[in-house]
Amino acid sequence: MKKIEEYVRNIPDFPEEGIIFRDVTSVLQDAEGLHLAIDSIQDLIGDTVCDVIVGPESRGFIFGVPIAYNLKKAFVPVRKKGKLPCETIEKEYALEYGTATVEMHRDSIKPGQKVIIVDDLMATGGTIEAIVSLIEELGGKVVKIVFLMELEGLKGRNKLNGYDVESVIHYS
Ligand code: PRP
Ligand code: ADE
Repeated sequence: MKKIEEYVRNIPDFPEEGIIFRDVTSVLQDAEGLHLAIDSIQDLIGDTVCDVIVGPESRGFIFGVPIAYNLKKAFVPVRKKGKLPCETIEKEYALEYGTATVEMHRDSIKPGQKVIIVDDLMATGGTIEAIVSLIEELGGKVVKIVFLMELEGLKGRNKLNGYDVESVIHYS
């Protein structure tokens, strides 16, 4: 059986020169790769108690929803600006390439709820840092943050000091 990292396709110079793009579609398009990815992320969560799984658009949805379903927890989507129809809170952040603004519905997390954030990849950590601040603005408590892949060289963990962060695959 192949290891999870063997399913990831590495694309040099996408979307910009100098970036090695860690392509998750090659994991998803293989039935064993998809199972292995979801199971491996869920193993990191273990028996951590939570009320809600939060996942960022769009790749965070792919892994966040099946994990929430398996754990019988709610799923809350974080979306790029302008997509959510009800009252939102928002935060701007810097990406490895470019900037973006993320939004959450104001009623999506209740004060005191325990939250696990699930995403496919941590690069600079800017996306997750912004999401942590939104969850905390709503009164939620981030109990764990899990990724399929982590680009260690970009030191995203430095933005998440004090949080329980784990990744399945580590790239130096
Ligand atoms: C990617 C990835 C993470 C984020 C990581 O999403 O899925 O959410 O970037 O980057 P960071 O750690 O530097 O913030 P992207 O915003 O490209 O959106 P997508 O999932 O829709 O492709
Ligand atoms: N999102 C941000 N940086 C990325 C990378 N190097 N590969 C895949 N997704 C990314």
